[in-house]
Formats: sequence, C-alpha cells, structure tokens
Amino acid sequence: MAVTASAPAKVILFGEHFVVHGEPAIVVAIDRRAYVKAERRDDERIYLHSANLNLSGYFGQGSFKVEQGDPREVKIKFEPVFRVVEKVLENYGSEVGLNIEVNSTVPVAAGLGSSAAVATAVAAAVGALLEINISKEDIFRISFEAEKVVHGTPSGVDPAISTFGGTLLYQMDTGFKPLDAKADIPLIIGDTGVKRFTRTQVAKVQEFKSKYPRIMEPTMRAAREIVLRAIDALKENDLETLGELMNINHALLYGVGVSDESLEWLVNAARKAGALGAKLTGAGGGGCMIALTREERQEQVLEAIQRSGGIAFVAKKTDEGVKIEQS
Ligand code: MEV
Repeated sequence: MAVTASAPAKVILFGEHFVVHGEPAIVVAIDRRAYVKAERRDDERIYLHSANLNLSGYFGQGSFKVEQGDPREVKIKFEPVFRVVEKVLENYGSEVGLNIEVNSTVPVAAGLGSSAAVATAVAAAVGALLEINISKEDIFRISFEAEKVVHGTPSGVDPAISTFGGTLLYQMDTGFKPLDAKADIPLIIGDTGVKRFTRTQVAKVQEFKSKYPRIMEPTMRAAREIVLRAIDALKENDLETLGELMNINHALLYGVGVSDESLEWLVNAARKAGALGAKLTGAGGGGCMIALTREERQEQVLEAIQRSGGIAFVAKKTDEGVKIEQS
C-alpha cells in the first residue's frame, strides 16, 4: 500500500523578515505543489528519494547513507525530512521501514517555501500510511520543528501556509487567521535563479537590528502598518493600494539589506512594464519577486521579467493546504 500527499508553495505578500521579529505577515498559498509518496519497506530503513533533484539516501541503524547526489546537498535537503518522519513515528511507537519519494513542482531555495511544502506533505503521507491520527495542527507543529533545523530561527509562516492553504495573516505570538481576500490576486512570480539560504538572510536582518536598533524599530512599525492597510485593501479588492503597499514594503526590505541586484532588475522591469507594484518575496538575496498586475498588462510584465533574465510565471491562489491525494 502507498499513500501520496501534497502541499502548496506560497508567496509572502507582505511582512517577510519583520515577521521573524514579531510583526504580522500576509501569505498566500499558490498552485505549485510538492507531492510525497510513502510506502512501507520490509527492513527498518527510512529511504528518501527526490525525483526532481536526483538525490537519494537512507537512514538506518543510527547513520545516514547517501546513494545519489552531492553528500552535502543530500544532507541539507533530507535532514529536515528525516526529522519529520522521526516526529511522526514518535506517535506510532515502533520502528518501521519506509520509502519516501518526493516530486516537487516548487523551485528550490527561491523563497516559495519548498522545504515547508515537502515537510508538511511528508508528515501527512507518513501519518496516513501508518494510520496515525494526525491533525493539521500536528502537521504544522511537526513541520515547524523540522524547519528550525534548516532555517535557524524561522517564524513558522511557511509551514502554516503549506498546512492550511488560502490567504493567512500570520504572527508568531498569535498564530494564524484566514483572511478574507475577495478575488484572485493576479500575481506574477519572477525567479532570479539566484539560490540562497534563508538562514543567512535572516541573520543579515538580525545584524541590521543589532547595529541600528533605533532605525529597525520604526521600520518594523511601518511594516506592521503596511500589513494592516493591506488587510483592508484585500477585503475591498483595491489592487492599486495593494500595489503601492508592495512597493513600500520592498523599499523597507531593501533598507534592511535583503534585496540584491538580480531582484532589483526584475522589480524595476516589472514596474516599468506597468505592474501596479512589485517586491521581493520570501527571504530575498536572490530567489523570487512578485508583481501585482492587471489582467491587460500581464503579458507585458511577464515578458519584461523574462527579458531581464528572470523566469516568470503566473501564480494562482489555492485554498487547498496539505491533503491526501491517493491512498
Ligand atoms: C521565509 O519564507 C520568510 C522569512 O520571513 C523567514 C521566516 O519567516 O521564517 C524570511
């Protein structure tokens, strides 16, 4: 018997980085998903295979063995997955062997939450395979623990959106709240192709905060105000205001040092081509940007991003969080 689960990627509309320091963020699940198939093995190995990254290896008898791919990369990618499996198995109570296969359509290390999408799908697939009663809250908690291994001090926004889907307002001390977003938010994603680590980007902002506490404080206040204004704009489907707020948010992120040249090219190209607003999304330093665009400008903005060296695609919001596809 095999079980397949899937979970969505995300874009942060407003509030990345500041969310790590306690401010709210608005995040949307998008129609790119990670798929995870789990099945039992006869031995007690936890065998992992990533079809799209061509990586494989297994955990067994206390050690990890790489079978395919660069050992460092395999370790970085698989360690959090193994943590998730370990946590789910704690509730199972005995040793089992598993084959876990990951097939993801989410660009990796690009700010779209690929690791959280994989982690939540793994938790759901293994839980369902072993018939463990595992709630969405459990999936969120387990994936959040695993994220801490990869990202250092994450806010939890990525596993929250991959678990619950939709549009969420997320804050570390109060958790998440589904937001009432009227229409589909017409977003274009531009991937710079520059890979980076969330952990390093988060550390940069921490350094900024330590060096300039009295500049960080009003910057965070402005970031909070942007989120509060955006909640109303989303309710009213006021795209113009949302675009302006995105531009201001990008300026704040630039200010704390998490943009880079590749992002600036794409953000400027999108604005010049008629986007209502554009900003980096996620941890920055490369990775992805988003542009908010009216339907009639979509083609121009897509092309402008491509011409500036990015890979552009249209992102559709999805209400579906983690789910079992097949069992
Ligand atoms: C990463 O998708 C978003 C950051 O705010 C980090 C986090 O919230 O954990 C940069």
